[in-house]
Amino acid sequence: MKIVAPNPENLERAAAILRSGGLVIIPTETVYGLAADALNPEAVAKVFGAKGRPADNPLIVHVALAEQALSLAAEWPDAAQILADRFWPGPLTLVVRRSARVPAETCGGLDTVAIRMPDHPVALALAELAGPLAAPSANPFTGLSATSVDHLDPALLERVDLVLDGGPAKIGIESTVVDVLASPPRILRPGGVSRGDIQAALHGTLGPLAAEAMRRSPGQYAKHYAPQAPLKLRSERLDPDQVGLTFHEPQTARQLKMPLDPRAYGSTLYHALHQLDSLHPQTIWVEMPPEEPAWEAVWDRLRKAAGQGLVL
Ligand code: TXA
Ligand code: MG
Repeated sequence: MKIVAPNPENLERAAAILRSGGLVIIPTETVYGLAADALNPEAVAKVFGAKGRPADNPLIVHVALAEQALSLAAEWPDAAQILADRFWPGPLTLVVRRSARVPAETCGGLDTVAIRMPDHPVALALAELAGPLAAPSANPFTGLSATSVDHLDPALLERVDLVLDGGPAKIGIESTVVDVLASPPRILRPGGVSRGDIQAALHGTLGPLAAEAMRRSPGQYAKHYAPQAPLKLRSERLDPDQVGLTFHEPQTARQLKMPLDPRAYGSTLYHALHQLDSLHPQTIWVEMPPEEPAWEAVWDRLRKAAGQGLVL
């Protein structure tokens, strides 16, 4: 069996696979990750191959210890220290200048590296045993992220050596990516930690998401995080014959009621989309959530899933 429980024996097995350049799908608190040894260019090349991801789209490197993070960075700005102290382990990724230890391949050829310390015992244990670990979300390129092993794509499963089943991910939406090289720092991808909480920690406003900043995060494709069926946003309540996500009482079993709370919504969004996608509907309709700052990460994913992200 390739999908196994993360008991001590299987953790050792996973660590041995990673040390020898293999691929392991691991649970994190945000989404499942497709992990490889971040310092091994051949292992990293397998990650890009398995996902079908362009080589210029950099990976996030996962660490368990502050020393690991520091060893990956050429410089560690004050803002990085403040944010790491406040939010690690947790759904926050920091983009800093990369040290010579990190292969260019891991970072899509950029001179920066994205680092995060995940808040999950399995991910932390493996990052300590065999890290630092490069791990993008464990889904085919531009597809829906997996928040449980049930969501994993069969073709992707074929290409990995082992999967550690950690149950459903509790945050359910990817980490917030913050560029701490910029002054003031800026968010490259909204996610599990809100803009408000980051601003409070830094005692200041974050910079705008300028086009130049977007180029620093090549993962910003217009279409991303998308189900197979076309996804469309809707400002009114779903019609009874529409398949989708609603804030009202569902009118059929092909409508799922979503919570009117951004965190709760984020934690179930990918699961709900996977469920509806498995019905092979013509279109998945999504009732628009409130246009409020707390919904920024959810809005980002919905717009990109609808193919309305920024076009570069
Ligand atoms: O929660 C998460 O972040 C999950 C779990 C597995 O940790 N990982 C994840 O990885 O979402 P991925 O590869 O699907 O998304 C990484 C994002 C992309 O938008 C990528 O462009 C950006 O981070 N990124 C990575 N390295 C970067 C860098 N050096 N500079 C700017 N953006 C970077
Ligand atoms: Mg991803």
